[in-house]
Amino acid sequence: MLYDLEKIRADFPILNREIRKGYSLAYLDSTATAQKPQQVINAMNEYYQFHNANIHRGVHTLAEEATAMYEDARDKIGRFIQAKYAREIIFTRNTTESINLVAKSWGRKFLKPGDLIILTEMEHHSNLVPWQMLADENSLRLEFVSVNEDGVLALEVYKKLLDLNPKLVAFSHMSNVLGTINPAKEMIIDAHKVGAIVLVDGAQSVPHFAVDVQDLDADFYAFSAHKMVGPTGFGVLYGKEAILDATPPFIGGGDMIKKVELHSFKPNDLPHKFEAGTPAIAEAIGTAAAVDYLQAIGMENIARHEHELVHYAFNKLSSVENLKIFGKNNNRGGVISFEMANVHPHDVAQILDSVGVAVRAGHHCAMPLHEKFGIAATTRASFYLYNTTSEIDRLVEGLEIVNDIFS
Ligand code: ALA
Repeated sequence: MLYDLEKIRADFPILNREIRKGYSLAYLDSTATAQKPQQVINAMNEYYQFHNANIHRGVHTLAEEATAMYEDARDKIGRFIQAKYAREIIFTRNTTESINLVAKSWGRKFLKPGDLIILTEMEHHSNLVPWQMLADENSLRLEFVSVNEDGVLALEVYKKLLDLNPKLVAFSHMSNVLGTINPAKEMIIDAHKVGAIVLVDGAQSVPHFAVDVQDLDADFYAFSAHKMVGPTGFGVLYGKEAILDATPPFIGGGDMIKKVELHSFKPNDLPHKFEAGTPAIAEAIGTAAAVDYLQAIGMENIARHEHELVHYAFNKLSSVENLKIFGKNNNRGGVISFEMANVHPHDVAQILDSVGVAVRAGHHCAMPLHEKFGIAATTRASFYLYNTTSEIDRLVEGLEIVNDIFS
């Protein structure tokens, strides 16, 4: 045992729910959103109870406290991913908004008609659609690194595509469907050799293992708080200082300006240039509490725990008849997507729900990847720091019920 699992579970009030009569909750959907520990809930409540004020605007005590808490959160989140400077941490609403910021601000300025963007077939829609929109607008070209049968990127295809001199490479650090952890560092080194800027979608990586943006040498790195035991509506865009400095503002309004005249404005310095309007202050504070929580357990311990769970699940699921897992049991995080022969994933999820097991069914915002595997949808079980092997046993028992009903 890497850490005291029962003690950790006790921090998450929701895990005590009897979700169906006679069934406690087995929450296997953390890839969609993670549950929140009492420490995060308390941090947000305390802010509202004792410190609530707008930031960067007032000189009264509450305003100064709120501003300090908000900016301390930026420092802490920056250190969590090893950013060089706190001003390289831009607060957004989520990973999707972070990627849209890069597409709309950096992309519109620096990508010219005919320029090439390399993406992969395993991207979440949030790392596809913003580039498709920009490609339509600016006549850009998109090429895709294929995914092989084992659910891993065809790196030989990637290398060939790099010969076409892309201006941008954007890929997910870990697939939200296959669980595959991509060799981000090597991919970034290769992309930089041809002069491309690299954006990494870290929505599934930052919550689950230690990420060092300087070691990776990522130019942009995006992630969301709600998948890392933090609140919803809060995301981060990390960008290298020089690149962010050269990037025009995204949304216009208060706080992102230094000076405004009737016909013009002068943008603020980093990071405020990208944070127009009153931001999600309580959420920033809640995210800082989430970082404290994860670090107290240790990202290495969390990664090892999930690794053990996913191996346990692979072994257990291999005994379930009519079940096919997508992707191999190789370098992967705690995500397993599967199909049951002749049973719709929504039916599988509903039967599992009837015995208290929460999984996700659908295309998981990755329709092209599902199309590639010739299916419309899968059922997905995903694991996090609070999950147990007995919850996986309950998943397997639930799947045996599916087989009984549909055989
Ligand atoms: N991206 C989230 C998921 O994979 C919503 O479920």
